[in-house]
Amino acid sequence: MFGCPKSLSLPLVVCWVVAAAAPAAHAAGENEVRIALASPAKGKATPTFGGATLTVGRPATATRSAITLRTSAAPRLGATSQAVLGGSLTLRSGKRTLVLRSLRLTTTTRATSLSGTVGRRRVTMLQSRTGATPRGTRLTLRRGALKLTAAGSRTIRSALRRTVRTGTTLGVISGTLTRAATAPTTGATGGPAPLPTVTAPAPPAPAPAPPAPIPPVPVPNPGPDPDPAPNAYTAPCLSQPGPLPAAGAGPALPALVPTHAVTTASTLTWGVRESWRWYLKNLGGTTAAWNGAALGPDVMTASGPAFGLYTFPGATTTGAYVQGATPAEDRAIVHLRGRVDFCHGTHGFRVTLSNLTVVIDGASSQVIADADTNHDGTLAPNERVKIADLNLAGITPTRTATTTTWTGVPAAFSSDGSAVFSGTGSGGGGSYPPGAAMDPLTVVAHLDAP
Ligand code: HEM
Repeated sequence: MFGCPKSLSLPLVVCWVVAAAAPAAHAAGENEVRIALASPAKGKATPTFGGATLTVGRPATATRSAITLRTSAAPRLGATSQAVLGGSLTLRSGKRTLVLRSLRLTTTTRATSLSGTVGRRRVTMLQSRTGATPRGTRLTLRRGALKLTAAGSRTIRSALRRTVRTGTTLGVISGTLTRAATAPTTGATGGPAPLPTVTAPAPPAPAPAPPAPIPPVPVPNPGPDPDPAPNAYTAPCLSQPGPLPAAGAGPALPALVPTHAVTTASTLTWGVRESWRWYLKNLGGTTAAWNGAALGPDVMTASGPAFGLYTFPGATTTGAYVQGATPAEDRAIVHLRGRVDFCHGTHGFRVTLSNLTVVIDGASSQVIADADTNHDGTLAPNERVKIADLNLAGITPTRTATTTTWTGVPAAFSSDGSAVFSGTGSGGGGSYPPGAAMDPLTVVAHLDAP
């Protein structure tokens, strides 16, 4: 829509400006949501979306250039606001039909999404990166480009046998939701006197059921090490033979509503910390990367030798990617697989990291991993913890059609990360306090669709 490329940041920004500046033929009324179509129909033609004709069922209405959806129950306003919208949306392609019923609008401060049921399944079909916060009893949606989600693209593909790409813009959404204010008490001063009742009042209509909360699409944590390869590695230290025991669920992940899924082609390249690798390599320790993780070769740089970095491939557990209005606003959860063991026979410790997850989420960006340690003969069972805090300030990822890459993201030990890598003090050894610098990392999120 708008003829905009999906992958490059500049055209996207231009695209957005064009969308936001498109004049509205008329504004949405109270408790109405209006979608000014990105591709208005010409003449008497029916509007289309991704080549399929788009019609609506009452009380929703459509013109050649806009769709108006109306609330069928009192909206619920709050940090997450929800409105049940009457009517249906129908896409037709040849003899195939996709009907979206029980429409619901969900708005947070960061995003607005439109979901509906297809058969018995609820699908979040469209999403905009503009959210809204209610003021009193009223919530005004900021105008935003409503784009097809990855789930919406899959639903259209399976129902219509048609490919409409994730991120295709349906139109610009706007509207106002108003929660009914408390009814004025009868006989309030100033107003006209109430009319006398001439017929028996109808029994009060049952209060409409509040809309069921729509949970954001959760992105699962990976389970135990997904690589079933037999353990061919025996560490020359306090080894953990065989697969690691399952770690707990770990820190909560942000509830992203993805615009794309993240595939196994994703990668993380990270050295953890150069001096740590130096310590192991030069003072009698060893490291081993396996189950998909790999240790790159040491290289000579202009500033001297640099130790090889670890690469971790994407896990089979699907991550999530939310394409922002600009690349700097992109958010992602990238699950990785592979395991790295840091062993020191003479100092008597082993630190194992596996199943890393990189979360790119503004100030909450972090690296989570399963950490299985044996510092001094006592095994600390595998536990999923935040290893590092990431500083995304000033980092702008680069996008291609199917990848988004964050390069050189500064990382620092979290308090759990500090505990995983620091000696206890009894047998000597160094430590990294929380906040101490780790190596910057590079993560590539491969997307399931452009
Ligand atoms: C018998 C026990 C241990 C001895 C004798 C020992 C000895 C040492 C020595 C001599 C250094 C300084 C290396 C240098 O920079 O020149 C060092 C650094 C360090 N040790 Fe140990 N260590 C022991 C146990 C541990 C344990 C259990 C841990 C926890 C995983 C640990 C973590 C560290 C860390 C994080 C450093 C700092 C490495 C850096 O420079 O970045 N050590 N240790």
